[in-house]
Amino acid sequence: MKTQVWIAAAAVIAIAAGYLLLKKEDKSSLDVAAGAPLVAVKVPQLTGDALKGEALFNDNCASCHGKNAAGRDGNGPPLIHKIYEPNHHADGAFYLAAMRGVRAHHWTFGDMPPVEGMGQEQVASIVTYVRTLQRENGIF
Ligand code: HEC
Repeated sequence: MKTQVWIAAAAVIAIAAGYLLLKKEDKSSLDVAAGAPLVAVKVPQLTGDALKGEALFNDNCASCHGKNAAGRDGNGPPLIHKIYEPNHHADGAFYLAAMRGVRAHHWTFGDMPPVEGMGQEQVASIVTYVRTLQRENGIF
């Protein structure tokens, strides 16, 4: 009989320990909120070149600029932002950024390195994509 009591007690302790461990894990996954989007972005129906641009953006830019170019906490700025409206950063800025990289000047994320495999055609699609998102979000 006594052994059964001990087994039951051990089980309770194991469950409690497991619960505490899980709780701790919950907390650490909250800390990983780094990478969260920095602005809310409305995404319109994308077609044609904008759709192609979205795929290229997701593969080459979103690791820093976030999904839907909404920025990524700790990694890079949102491009759906007044700073990047066409009057302030014309399309040429996107070609230069992708091919030569960018020195940190507007933000504190650090420099943007050149992105490998970017040519005129790829950047053109990405620009169409980003400008489409910007227009949908009142940035033009
Ligand atoms: C390794 C992270 C990283 C990647 C990958 C990245 N960027 Fe950037 N980008 C940045 C950061 C950081 C800045 C902001 C620099 C500043 O002004 O402080 C930036 C700035 C820019 C700018 C503004 C340039 C200017 O003249 O101020 C454009 C446009 C841009 N990125 C486009 C892109 C595109 C398009 C891609 C994908 C082909 C891309 N970025 C990939 C980190 C990144």
